[in-house]
Amino acid sequence: MIVLGARPQFVKSAPVIHELLKRRGLKLQLINSGQHYDYELSQIFFDQLKLPPHALNLQVGSGSHAIQTAKAMTRIEQAILKLKPALVLVPGDTNTTLAAALAAAKLTIPIGHIEAGARSFDMTMPEEINRRVTDHISTMLFAPTKNAEHNLQNEGIAAGRIFQVGDTMVDTLRTVLPTARESQKSLLEKMRLNKQDFLLVTAHRPGNVDNEEHLRGIVNALLRISETRRVVFPAHPRAMHNLRSRGFIRRIRRWSNISLTKPLGYVEMISLLDAASAVLTDSGGLQKEAYLLGVPCTTMRKSTEWPETILAQANRLVDANSQKIIRNVLDSRRTRTGMRLYDENPFSRGGASRRIVNTILSNPLFDP
Ligand code: UD1
Repeated sequence: MIVLGARPQFVKSAPVIHELLKRRGLKLQLINSGQHYDYELSQIFFDQLKLPPHALNLQVGSGSHAIQTAKAMTRIEQAILKLKPALVLVPGDTNTTLAAALAAAKLTIPIGHIEAGARSFDMTMPEEINRRVTDHISTMLFAPTKNAEHNLQNEGIAAGRIFQVGDTMVDTLRTVLPTARESQKSLLEKMRLNKQDFLLVTAHRPGNVDNEEHLRGIVNALLRISETRRVVFPAHPRAMHNLRSRGFIRRIRRWSNISLTKPLGYVEMISLLDAASAVLTDSGGLQKEAYLLGVPCTTMRKSTEWPETILAQANRLVDANSQKIIRNVLDSRRTRTGMRLYDENPFSRGGASRRIVNTILSNPLFDP
């Protein structure tokens, strides 16, 4: 069984799901928690990443952390009791990840955690709590990098439970990039963008978009940057809601140099990222994708779970302070590090999904 429900989980799981479906004699149940329910955050990813339909949608929806996690946990427990999986796979660090891991662990079902060992060391992030708890109750921990493996060892997790396999997002990106490049020209024309002549922006972390002062800092920086450069901002519903309720949206809309759009599908997002001169984000996954494609990244956070991107000088951390954002974004130059997707790099050149499935199938704790 694989349990997912939020946008980044679809991206991280897709190649693992495809790999599992290739193996004969293996039955896969895909459980969608329904944490994300808008077409742009959910179904479009099933379509573009060619995911099989879910066996169950638990329709958990939105709510406070406790409500969302508790709803997901009770419903996942029912699904596990009904479908009796030999293993529950949980990707990433969302509330769905935590709920599925807790439900499975209490029913003594082995758990495989995809993207184990990522740490920001910032316990104010809900994701940091989710991933720490998930790692400590998981049976097989699939670490994407050497650094993630060290983090797990430092927390006293037995070496026999840790498998450094590479990052499944590399597999997803390698699959999607050719399609994204095929449609790039027409997408750029449609959006009236020139290649390597625009800034791609995303922001959705509560610490940035729920906080009025931080959101103002980000908006002011974007207005300033847009005086000299096109800005494209596909906004997560949380960001859009706050931009609207705090009255920022009118200032942005007046500025024709900023395209504020709905969230984009994965193919469109990779297509734009690949063509952008730089990216400004608070996402975890986009930092890695920017690094792999050689696009300079500025991350609006105090910490990152991907220090490899900082060490490679492909990514810089700034807080939501206008001046710092402006300086860093205007400073960044394209291809400082070059594209790494097909070369040796800390996230691997691909194959993580195959290694994950091989590890599961040869592990004595997986006993269907
Ligand atoms: C969740 C994950 C985060 C991940 C992000 C990617 C947790 C704790 N956080 O954050 O790690 O980076 O997904 O997007 O699990 N909403 C909609 N439509 C939807 C879903 C949500 O409008 O389909 C709105 C609702 O107002 C909701 C808010 O977005 O209250 C936040 O959604 P939620 O699932 O709680 O967290 P994300 O911010 O999306």
